[in-house]
Amino acid sequence: MSQTPAAVAQQPALRIVVVGHVDHGKSTLIGRLLYDTGALPEGRFEELKAASAKRGMPIEWSFMLDAFQAERDQAVTIDSTQIWFKSAQRDYVLIDAPGHREFLKNMISGAASADAAVLVVDAVEGLRETTRRHGYLLHMLGIQQVAVAVSKMDLAGYDEKRFKAVARDVETYLGELDIVATAVVPISGRDGDNIAQGSAHMPWYRGPGIVQALDELPGVAKPADLPLRFPIQDVYKFDQRRILAGRVEAGVLRVGDQLLFSPSDKTARVRSIEAWHVDQQPVEAHPGESIGVTLDEQIFVERGEIASHAEVPPQLSTVFRATLFWLGQSPLLVGKSYSLKLATQEATVTVQSIERIIDTDTLASDAGERVERNTVAEVVLRSRQVLALDEHTFIARCGRCVLVDGYDTVAGGTVSMEGYPDQRQTLSIKGTNLTGVEHRVVAASRALHNGHAGGVLWLTGLSGAGKSTLAMEAEQRLFRKGYQVYVLDGDNVRRGLNANLDFSPEGRAENIRRVGEVAALFADAGMICITAFISPYQADRDKARTSAPGAFHEIYVKAGLATCEQRDPKGLYKKARTGEIAAFTGVSAPYEAPADPEMVVDTETLSIDDCVAQIVDYVESVIALTPSNGSRGGRRSPPASD
Ligand code: ADX
Repeated sequence: MSQTPAAVAQQPALRIVVVGHVDHGKSTLIGRLLYDTGALPEGRFEELKAASAKRGMPIEWSFMLDAFQAERDQAVTIDSTQIWFKSAQRDYVLIDAPGHREFLKNMISGAASADAAVLVVDAVEGLRETTRRHGYLLHMLGIQQVAVAVSKMDLAGYDEKRFKAVARDVETYLGELDIVATAVVPISGRDGDNIAQGSAHMPWYRGPGIVQALDELPGVAKPADLPLRFPIQDVYKFDQRRILAGRVEAGVLRVGDQLLFSPSDKTARVRSIEAWHVDQQPVEAHPGESIGVTLDEQIFVERGEIASHAEVPPQLSTVFRATLFWLGQSPLLVGKSYSLKLATQEATVTVQSIERIIDTDTLASDAGERVERNTVAEVVLRSRQVLALDEHTFIARCGRCVLVDGYDTVAGGTVSMEGYPDQRQTLSIKGTNLTGVEHRVVAASRALHNGHAGGVLWLTGLSGAGKSTLAMEAEQRLFRKGYQVYVLDGDNVRRGLNANLDFSPEGRAENIRRVGEVAALFADAGMICITAFISPYQADRDKARTSAPGAFHEIYVKAGLATCEQRDPKGLYKKARTGEIAAFTGVSAPYEAPADPEMVVDTETLSIDDCVAQIVDYVESVIALTPSNGSRGGRRSPPASD
């Protein structure tokens, strides 16, 4: 009999999708699977038999799905069908959707998430475009548990050779996607060969049938074993209490737990769990449960925050990668903004770059300016507000996003932080009980003393763009003109102050955080500090800017990758290409060019001399002349008052 969710024991059912090219026998397989596992409601088989007979056909198993479809059409709130069946080993939920587009939308938006898949390929036709596209989709969604059904073996004369050829094609294709098929099963839906039972027609096949292949899958990584994620859906005020409502997506939440809210970084303890329609309030809540929580402190948190434990919180970032399945009528374009939905967070994001557009048929990827409907693209998205997110492969439910344009869902996809740092470490001050102390020497006095104001000239660009060369040359020229000036250079600072940092995204972020702070101190001390760091992330440079308010000047030292690689002054690009250096900026690690720098110095078209002159002119016109010093260059005697 068909199972309802309530009848299923504690062990989560395995959620499966059956995918494959239209007409490759998907529906037949499902119909037969339900019949063979006894999942059909009373009388359904007889109806099917009668309906098929009326058309003068043998039993048409694919009609079975239409009946489920009709049920779904009545339940308007559900846009995908969930059919329950069970084997001797465990329970299954089969997820299906009315059409290709709906199916894609549901799958990528997470409306219907699956743990495992059966990929159906017609033995006669072999791999088709949709087979490939669906295979790619499984890869994109991180569905690793895939069984392959080579269908319609009856039409292929139960031919072993034909089966092997198709199996090889499918396995090769899946292999390119890093998916290992757990089983490749020759089936015939018509006679039920190798579905729940074996096959008398194919004695040459000794592997499992489809049901057995599903039973042999390792099963679901229980979300309760993952770190806690409790996205806040709403905050209600009841009498004096504030109740945070939401659904536990992963991990276990207990009364007394210290919760960390992201992105606000606030903490509080769980005073109570409020559940609806229960006699006794629970002391813990599990994945999938919708609950309310009250805290021991009245902290201000709102919809969109994600509560976790402090040990393994979500990552915080204003930038991330998304692999999107684009469904929009109009193409996705760089610079365009969309509404992002991620767990319960909503934010406006702008497409910073299109990294690659993937042809789901050939899997070839290409650069491109626009992403057309029904294609997959890897893009970098940026938001103004800090987002709390998880790597999709780590906690799928908090690593999936949907993009909305107006009222239309235009894309759904998965989130990755590859190449980007968790910004949490740079966002909060860890120390407590700190009190700032005021200097007695004011900035204006220092400026008078030096003959110029302090400032930070922040040079950013690829390795080999010319940052260090320009910085050192400008330092010398400015010094000769009487400026108090000093260069902080990446290769130097990384051998001292930052000797403990590597080139991981976090290492770079911390490198720039420290240098940003040090440069701000130099500026505060009245000096001109020129920094020469790749500083690949806009977020880090923005942070450095806020550390030196009003005194920060971002200078983009511009030279394209091809030019830098050709110059290759340290021979590092060569090593990066051979893989000797991993995560090399521009080659295998990201570089985000400044969106709105104070100045661009183009070393591709200008000579070093001209570039340096440009920087020195800038200093003389923008930094040197301030109302407080009134003159440029030249050291002055300190005023008597100091
Ligand atoms: S940053 O990315 O953290 O800003 P930084 O400017 O300090 O980099 O250091 C860059 C210099 O380190 C490069 O000019 C190069 O000499 C060296 N380097 C070594 N490994 C890498 C790497 N993986 N990526 C970029 N630069 C590297």
